[in-house]
Amino acid sequence: MDQSLKRTASHLKGETRYIDDLDKPNNVLYGFIYRSNFAYGKIEKIDIEEAKRVKDVFAILSYKDIPGKNFMGAVFDDEPILAEEHVEFIGQAILLIAAKSKSAAFEAITKIKVDIKELEPVLDVEESYTKGNFPFDPLHIVSGDVEEGFAKSDFVIEGVLNTGCQEHFYLETQAAMSVPKPDGTILVKTSSQNPSENQLIISHALKLESSKIEVVTDIIGGGFGGKETQSNWCAVWTSLLANHCAVPVIMVMDRREDMLITGKRHPVKTTYKAGFNKNGRLNAYSAKFLFDIGFSADLSRSIIERSLLHLDNSYYIPSVKCDLYPCRTNKPSNTAFRGFGAPQSIAAIEYVMEEISRVTGIDAAVVRNRNFYGKSVRNTAPYGQKIKDNIIGDLYKELLKTSDYKQRVKSLKEFNKSSKWKKRGISMVPVKFGISFTTSFLNQGAALVNMYKDGSLVVHQGGVEMGQGLYDKMMNVVSREFGITKESVRICSTNISVIPNTSATAASTGSDINGHAIKLAIDRLKNRLNDFISLNYSWGKEDIVWENSFIFSKKNPEIRYPISEIIKNAYLAQVSLSEQAYYKTPGIHFDRVIARGNPFYYYVFGLSVSEVEVDMLTGAHKIIRTDILHDVGESLDKLIDKGQIEGAFVQCSGWATMEELVYNSKGALLTASPDSYKIPGIADIPQDFRVNLYEKNPFNAGILKSRAVGEPPFIYGLSVWLAIKNALIYFNKKSCRLDLPATKEKILKCAYSYVESDKN
Ligand code: MTE
Ligand code: HPA
Ligand code: MOS
Repeated sequence: MDQSLKRTASHLKGETRYIDDLDKPNNVLYGFIYRSNFAYGKIEKIDIEEAKRVKDVFAILSYKDIPGKNFMGAVFDDEPILAEEHVEFIGQAILLIAAKSKSAAFEAITKIKVDIKELEPVLDVEESYTKGNFPFDPLHIVSGDVEEGFAKSDFVIEGVLNTGCQEHFYLETQAAMSVPKPDGTILVKTSSQNPSENQLIISHALKLESSKIEVVTDIIGGGFGGKETQSNWCAVWTSLLANHCAVPVIMVMDRREDMLITGKRHPVKTTYKAGFNKNGRLNAYSAKFLFDIGFSADLSRSIIERSLLHLDNSYYIPSVKCDLYPCRTNKPSNTAFRGFGAPQSIAAIEYVMEEISRVTGIDAAVVRNRNFYGKSVRNTAPYGQKIKDNIIGDLYKELLKTSDYKQRVKSLKEFNKSSKWKKRGISMVPVKFGISFTTSFLNQGAALVNMYKDGSLVVHQGGVEMGQGLYDKMMNVVSREFGITKESVRICSTNISVIPNTSATAASTGSDINGHAIKLAIDRLKNRLNDFISLNYSWGKEDIVWENSFIFSKKNPEIRYPISEIIKNAYLAQVSLSEQAYYKTPGIHFDRVIARGNPFYYYVFGLSVSEVEVDMLTGAHKIIRTDILHDVGESLDKLIDKGQIEGAFVQCSGWATMEELVYNSKGALLTASPDSYKIPGIADIPQDFRVNLYEKNPFNAGILKSRAVGEPPFIYGLSVWLAIKNALIYFNKKSCRLDLPATKEKILKCAYSYVESDKN
């Protein structure tokens, strides 16, 4: 069995070892934090004398004990490792504790005395906006003349839409273990999407050069964006404690703490205005987006930027004027989450599409089709990039047929006529998702390919495996590019001392960036070996074929040698069997100030249709059927890609219909555990779920002609929410805003808010 299969088999048996499952050294200490109970306050006094005397407590550290800088923010220095004068959200770390046991640490926590003068927090995004609480400049985009567009429109609608928070709910909570070495270096094992950034933050905090900090990430139990920056926390906290105590320190957040203190998907309040014609075509779209970013900037600027770059979704909008505000509040700092801001602005324009359908009476799928980007005209995005290789129209034609859309709309109308309390709705949601980090320089990757004398191969690359199937995909690249069986290939865990300066495994670019780097390294190594073979075996270089771990000449394919034999001879002839390569994505740039450029190497397109049935007595819904048609070019691995599409859809349908974070008036999260925060379960997936890969559109410039898959299919889950909105129209003809998540309560409010005035 090859490494991919073995890993999958053991993973399914629950044998994957996350940080908490590692063998711990005998002298390990457990790290904990002492947290703020106030959303905003001034720290007046800290007394740790009594707590320090608790048996088995080895250290209690404050910001004053940090040898270097007290910052752990990704982009801005506005996020302290430990609070200094003020606390800015409930759960913020004030002190670090290292103890021999959890119970000792907890006893110490009860004996720590911190006096905090409570101050008035800002918890509401509107209040923050009114006060101009923006830690960095708001983002704007203008293209065309919206006033002119509204003036010439048959209809102009205005509205508000709120989209909610979302907890990442990765299987493995945030965790790290730091092991100090006698030579003054430190080894950090971390559950991170971004080990290089862990290294950088530790380097600043400990005043230690990066070269002395070895950061290793083995398979992590999910990230979904939540470990792009906020994995810095455990990594730097354990490193500070380990450095101070000179012994290994491990920290694994429990689920409650993780949910309480880490950031979520940004909630957004959108106020929109849309002008369109009787035929359903948009002329103008303007919107104000208020992002609740939490107490610090974290990745919010990039997230808001991606929102801006997706507010058109798949539609050509002749004139656009949108303003996106980063509103600071006294809550945990919101962060990356699958889609990275795009789902929020796409939700707004998709909501508008449904509203256009309601106002004009034209079927919503037809409205969408009329607004799709064209192939040769109407094909420039508001930020100036030409939408090349646009296949959304082709996908539309195909899905309309395969999902039997028109017939089902008819049947659904029949059903709704005869069913009083149960109503069905349907919605089609497309996606156009830009692939590349919008921070252009992050689009780089590297790989190191080492061959041993027996012809077996180890591959180091900069990406992190978090369940998305990166290692398996990289294995496929290696085995196909090299012509070597998978049994002889090993993909190593991510080690920043081997591959330096890695970008986060994020923006769905993991397999593109690292796959291209691996391919380049293989090309070079193979080229060198082919020189050797050509010389020693008297074969024309261009005739040499590597296949299934054998090497032969096309001219004489009967004579074939095992790779192991030829590689041994190459070694004896002093040919290097190791190769490194570096890849950067070509031709992309974006100027945030003017909101213009070509930020994306390419786009991923796809389309979904969901039909739901809503019980108007309880507000409960079920997804009767979902069809998805998604373009991944030539798939690097069809099963993985299907899994990513299904998982992303379900994850979004959770955000869109059931996952709700509730804070009290003091800024405390009331839903910090799975008993009060509901994520989709097995019963919440579509009863009939048809996911198909569109196989007619290979991407020649991609790695093995593939396209990225990680984030784009998240958008499809919006079709569930909008199908519910559609069903509501059959029950209550008056329009009613259906914010996201469309929980049972919200559905019932919409169903009945106008009933009294309604004659029916
Ligand atoms: N799939 C699983 N199982 N677990 C994850 O944490 N993260 C998603 C997506 N799919 C994630 C996942 C996110 S947010 C991104 S950006 C991509 O995977 C990152 O991996 P890739 O670039 O290799 O696709
Ligand atoms: N996506 C995900 N993570 C990021 C990005 C992005 O576009 N930019 C910086 N970090
Ligand atoms: Mo994904 S939100 O880019 O980690």
